[in-house]
Amino acid sequence: MAIYFPEEKLTEIRNTANISDIISERVVLKKAGKDLVGLCPFHSEKTPSFTVSPAKQIFHCFGCGAGGNVFSFLMKYDGIGFVEAVQSLARRYGIQLPSSEMTPAQKKIVSERDRLFDLNKQIMMFYKEQLSDRSIGKTGREYLEKRGFNQEIIDQFSLGFAPDGWDSLIGFFRKIKTSQALAEKTGLIIPKKNKGFYDRFRNRIMFPIYDVTNQIIGFGGRVLDDSKPKYLNSPETIIYNKSRSLYGVQAAKEKARETGHIYIVEGYFDLLALQQHGIKNSVATLGTSLTPDHVRMLKRGFAQKSFLVFDSDDAGLKAAHRSISIFMNEGMDAAVIVLPKGYDPDSYIFKNGRDAFLQASEKAFSMMEFLVETAVKIHGLSMEGKVRIISDLKEPLSQINDAVAKSIYIKYLAERLNIDETAIFEKIKSVKQNQPAGRFKQNQECVSSESEGPSISSEMLRFEKQIISMMLQFPEILPEIENKRVLDYFIDKRLVAIGHLIVEVPPPRAGDVAGLMNRLDSVELQKMIASLVITDEAWDRDNCEKLLAQFINSRQRRENSLLSQIKAAEESKDETLLFSLLKKKQEQLINR
Ligand code: CTP
Ligand code: MN
Repeated sequence: MAIYFPEEKLTEIRNTANISDIISERVVLKKAGKDLVGLCPFHSEKTPSFTVSPAKQIFHCFGCGAGGNVFSFLMKYDGIGFVEAVQSLARRYGIQLPSSEMTPAQKKIVSERDRLFDLNKQIMMFYKEQLSDRSIGKTGREYLEKRGFNQEIIDQFSLGFAPDGWDSLIGFFRKIKTSQALAEKTGLIIPKKNKGFYDRFRNRIMFPIYDVTNQIIGFGGRVLDDSKPKYLNSPETIIYNKSRSLYGVQAAKEKARETGHIYIVEGYFDLLALQQHGIKNSVATLGTSLTPDHVRMLKRGFAQKSFLVFDSDDAGLKAAHRSISIFMNEGMDAAVIVLPKGYDPDSYIFKNGRDAFLQASEKAFSMMEFLVETAVKIHGLSMEGKVRIISDLKEPLSQINDAVAKSIYIKYLAERLNIDETAIFEKIKSVKQNQPAGRFKQNQECVSSESEGPSISSEMLRFEKQIISMMLQFPEILPEIENKRVLDYFIDKRLVAIGHLIVEVPPPRAGDVAGLMNRLDSVELQKMIASLVITDEAWDRDNCEKLLAQFINSRQRRENSLLSQIKAAEESKDETLLFSLLKKKQEQLINR
């Protein structure tokens, strides 16, 4: 990771953009002593091992080994580069960055995402103005009014209107002098067959789609009548990933965290209807079915339990089935609200009101109830029916990773069908065997944070880690470390690399681990350093001296004993032993 920015700037950004604030926007964190913990966003887990240290301004996951500072977090979470991460934080906190540090090519890549966010915001305002324009927006306003939406909700969600023409947005781009390249990157204009472009959205109500941090990532649009297609959505772009985006997240977050519950509906207007009726903890999927990424995002960042509100038509039931498998697999609790036939959340809540909706959610089916009851409805409870039910359910059941949850579900099914539990267990086992291993493990990125290379006793590794953490806390011992060539005795190559970095350019302040990380080229090293300082105890100066002396001592002893063993082997002419000892010695030398 090359350094494009002056150290002071990075420090200023890190100090302003508190790591716990930034991560809290995306992951629910709870206090645990001086640290914060939560469910790791980078691997599947049920108990929190993801730790954020506000004091040290770093994060570390004890489960998968991910770790780093606020920049590394954003890079990994948002899938962006270092420079982009720096830029986006600087922009958000109004910190001026010297742009001369970057080449024009770098500047271009870096700011493209930010420029798209900016442009999307301007486009939102353009569509919004069209909606409030007396004549242009008249039909749009009437449509929203007819469906019962009030001005407050229209404003809160920045709804807009795309005029009925082929080049309204194109005209706007021209007016604000947007470059053609950037305009195309929004996905909102489409190339004509021969030459030129036309607007993707025409004569539609416009829904800007926000991400959790309140930036506009894309748009959806609905026609005002029965023409087709009823809805259109922007295509995916460098800032819009459908399988990770949910309509309404920005407005749902707070209430979802407060209640621990989140309602998931299918449509834009379903979501707006719930919002208008004060059910703020709701989000909508956007014309795509719910994905494991969605569920993971909700579970890590929002709530413990989801309420799926699907239409009770066949498509809705199918979607509910698909979603339940994902919830089971990801280990998030969910319940299914089945509305009376012919209703969707929008029409239901407008007709029956908020209380009726809340009552319906109290009667929600648990995931298993829902699966069993819909299967019973389809197959009946005859002998053949039961066989078919089990056959329908063995797939989702076999996907459950949590053994306790699985046995509860199986018990429920056995009781409902009045058959023996073990028979169901057998059925499920047969599914597991037929599947390629690991098929349902998504994103299980488990990296060992221990050393590679020659085997090294954990005692010595701990020694080395302690020394590094001392070096961070007490820069005044660095000369001694150099004089005594302490790092030469290190066995773990990664720690040697970190050590040399600290010696060469000590962090601006003692203990500024987050600052040091900006200079670490590899994510591996960042992870390692996060893991070692997040667990370390505080050292005092006296301990330091002792530890150093001990360390050097033990290394020399080890070396001496090896040397004397070699000597003895030479004398006794034991060639095999001699050979293996020499090899060991050689390894030691190589690893310095
Ligand atoms: N959808 C889509 N493209 C379509 C149809 C639907 O992207 N051609 C998505 C939209 O996000 C829509 C959701 O699927 O909001 C649900 O669609 P549907 O049930 O057909 O419509 P409603 O939400 O009930 O729409 P409305 O109430 O406006 O008729
Ligand atoms: Mn509807």
